[in-house]
Amino acid sequence: MTISVAVSGASGYAGGEVLRILAAHPEVEIGAITAHSQAGQRLGSIAPHLHALADRVLVDTTVENLAGHDVVFLALPHGASAAVAAALPENTLVIDAGADHRLESAAAWEKFYGSEHAGFWPYGLPELPGQRQKLAGTKRVAVPGCYPTGAQLALAPGFAAGLLEADDVVIISASGTSGAGKSLKPHLLGSEAMGSMSTYGVGGSHRHIPEMEQGFSKLAGEEVTVSFTPTLAPMPRGILTTATAKVKPGVTAAQLREAWTEAYAHELFVHLLPEGQWPTTGAVLGSNHVQLQLAFDTHANRVIATAALDNLTKGTAGAAVQSMNIALGLEENTGLLMQGVAP
Ligand SMILES: NC(=O)c1ccc[n+]([C@@H]2O[C@H](COP(=O)([O-])OP(=O)(O)OC[C@H]3O[C@@H](n4cnc5c(N)ncnc54)[C@H](OP(=O)(O)O)[C@@H]3O)[C@@H](O)[C@H]2O)c1
Repeated sequence: MTISVAVSGASGYAGGEVLRILAAHPEVEIGAITAHSQAGQRLGSIAPHLHALADRVLVDTTVENLAGHDVVFLALPHGASAAVAAALPENTLVIDAGADHRLESAAAWEKFYGSEHAGFWPYGLPELPGQRQKLAGTKRVAVPGCYPTGAQLALAPGFAAGLLEADDVVIISASGTSGAGKSLKPHLLGSEAMGSMSTYGVGGSHRHIPEMEQGFSKLAGEEVTVSFTPTLAPMPRGILTTATAKVKPGVTAAQLREAWTEAYAHELFVHLLPEGQWPTTGAVLGSNHVQLQLAFDTHANRVIATAALDNLTKGTAGAAVQSMNIALGLEENTGLLMQGVAP
């Protein structure tokens, strides 16, 4: 079976990473690749690392160009994918790397995004309890945000096992600059971002907050509130998340470790490291793997969980392809057997 696939936003970072993975996927044939301002350009002039596709020409992101494929990946700015998705045939598998279909709550969407809610699709984080069943056979997938991927994987086992308090979750993440996309922004210029770290989206305003709260609340069975602060790190890729939450009375360090160990014991891409070894973004660069570690800070009565992932692979394109594999009934790691790149 050859699966025909179209990729929109192919001139951007997320779309380019989808293509990097799909170029090595044994079951896939890459059809239309689309762009916006860069339509008409040869892909090799924009993404010279994609050798196999260098002579392909980007076409306009229209429903006509995307329809007629078995699978369509949308890697468009948030707000741009809902209209395209709504016009695609119901039997096309549509995988949206943007935010448009991640939130169940229309009120949360309107508060954080300020536009009309487009609806909620099965959420492409199969490592969350019960999520694989929701992805199997689906024709629509909402790929998680990059920060919510790390944050949810870091604390999900504790909420699912009822070990954590819901009211005091604090998450600090450092992200590489590709997390902000490829369009030109002064604060992302090399001379601004290199050798310097900065905070942004401070004070409960970041759009990934409701997505984290949605995931944790479902697992905890009660409303979880999250304080989230992102920082920008001087590296092209990678996210290092430190997530902390208060531990319920009587919970022990052994119970915490057991919950995390059991949650990920059979996962191909999520790895709880041996005690004492801490995740690094360098170790997961270019791969679909996530490294985790936790400690029980008995002084503050908090669990400290850290997660390292590559924002463009497990944080976007890798999760998108992993979800495609599950939706189509392929082995979940098809095309994703990559190791990290070191040093
Ligand atoms: N970067 C990440 O780490 C990451 C992680 C998770 C999710 N995402 C999500 O993935 C999506 C793409 O992000 P990105 O980082 O790849 O951004 P990007 O590098 O800026 O790429 C944006 C892409 O969308 C196209 N585009 C721009 N305006 C458009 C419009 N009005 N209509 C249709 N296409 C348009 C661009 O085409 P031209 O270049 O031809 O103008 C480009 O191909 C976003 O929704 C983002 O939130 C990104």
